[in-house]
Amino acid sequence: MARTQVAIIGAGPSGLLLSQLLHLHGVDSVVLERQSRGYVEGRIRAGVLEQGTVDLLTLAKVDQRLQRERLVHDGFALGFAGRSFRVDLKGLTGNGVSVYGQTEVTKDLMDARAAAGSPPVFEAGDVSISGFDGDHPTVRYTRGGRPHELVCDYVVGCDGYHGICRRSAPSAAMQTFERVYPFGWLGILADVPPASHELVYSNHPRGFAMCSMRSLTRSRYYVQCGLEEPVDAWPDSRFWDELRLRLPVEVAGAVVTGPSIEKSIAPLRSFVIEPLRFGRLFLVGDAAHIVPPTGAKGLNLAAADVRILYRALVERFRTGRTHLLDGYSDRALRRIWMAERFSWWFTSVTHKFSDETFGRRLQLAELDYLTGSTAALTSLAENYVGLPFED
Ligand code: FAD
Ligand code: PHB
Repeated sequence: MARTQVAIIGAGPSGLLLSQLLHLHGVDSVVLERQSRGYVEGRIRAGVLEQGTVDLLTLAKVDQRLQRERLVHDGFALGFAGRSFRVDLKGLTGNGVSVYGQTEVTKDLMDARAAAGSPPVFEAGDVSISGFDGDHPTVRYTRGGRPHELVCDYVVGCDGYHGICRRSAPSAAMQTFERVYPFGWLGILADVPPASHELVYSNHPRGFAMCSMRSLTRSRYYVQCGLEEPVDAWPDSRFWDELRLRLPVEVAGAVVTGPSIEKSIAPLRSFVIEPLRFGRLFLVGDAAHIVPPTGAKGLNLAAADVRILYRALVERFRTGRTHLLDGYSDRALRRIWMAERFSWWFTSVTHKFSDETFGRRLQLAELDYLTGSTAALTSLAENYVGLPFED
């Protein structure tokens, strides 16, 4: 039987970052991951990092490549009613955002964990957790056909929306809040230069579209699509045609097309559970909350949870005091609900919900107000770049 101070389930960005920060502060952890390293690194997901997330990655000493390769964006464009409007993030808030793929963040963290001699345990099957209502939680899993047991002081569920940790908590002790949207995002990745040097979020009568990027030679584009539509219904040519129809004219004209190297559909969801702690089990990131991707908040929110929890665990192991652990759920949830609000709002003003004309006029009025009011724009910008931390 093995022992560790903190057992972390899931080697996504939140599990890896927590493990790295604990290690730098002398706390021992083991990360168990269901998939292979190649699979985890191959998942194409987030692209935008708040400055607070960059600062945390710097504190975790995994920022060398990030500082070199990130693209700093001081603004983005909003397309609607045939026009394009630039939101000057830097001018309005003093901050921009960094474009650097989640895939790269994950690679940097995995390299750091391996260099420290504690790589995640990949391909850990049938992970189960028990005893977290007492003093000695146990994690069981199989690897290479053999059963394993890990005893620990705390279990942290960083295993995403489909993970087992949230499901292992007593449902009577948990409240769930959820909104499912009647559409998804179809995303493609292509090795073509981006149509615009900044991100573009476009509200169009045919549906939402957006332009993002991973580098100056790799673009990431999305179009709003139906939930029932299979990816096969979207050959590249259809995707490029639809994207150009939904973008402001000058951006559409600058789109360079090419073969997609990844194409997938993600449903949109708002989801929160309360609380985030059940005895000695803590939930972090997508395991406890989901936002629609419009506000680019998911990964940043996961990092913000980690920021609160690693300090609380370090304090507990250094001094025996648990007051920070006791406050984790409430503190994290305040920020989570702010991000839920912003992501819901930004989704609601940019997406097509139905052919209902009243709602459409309200959207246009909202965007019109936004682009004419420094107060409204500042509210958008300060949420987009990331609200300040409480400490
Ligand atoms: P995950 O990344 O989901 O990691 C969980 C890990 O746990 C996985 O590796 C999984 O394999 C593992 N796991 C699951 N079950 C088990 C088990 N039973 N045993 C062991 N391991 C298990 N966020 C942003 O901030 N900015 C963006 O621009 C952005 N864009 C996005 C675009 C799209 C299309 C999507 C889908 C998401 C986007 N997000 C964005 C959200 C972001 O990707 C997630 O919020 C982020 O991945 C959460 O990290 P996590 O570590 O909490 O969970
Ligand atoms: C991305 O680059 O994948 C991305 C960027 C911004 C978003 C969502 C996704 O709001």
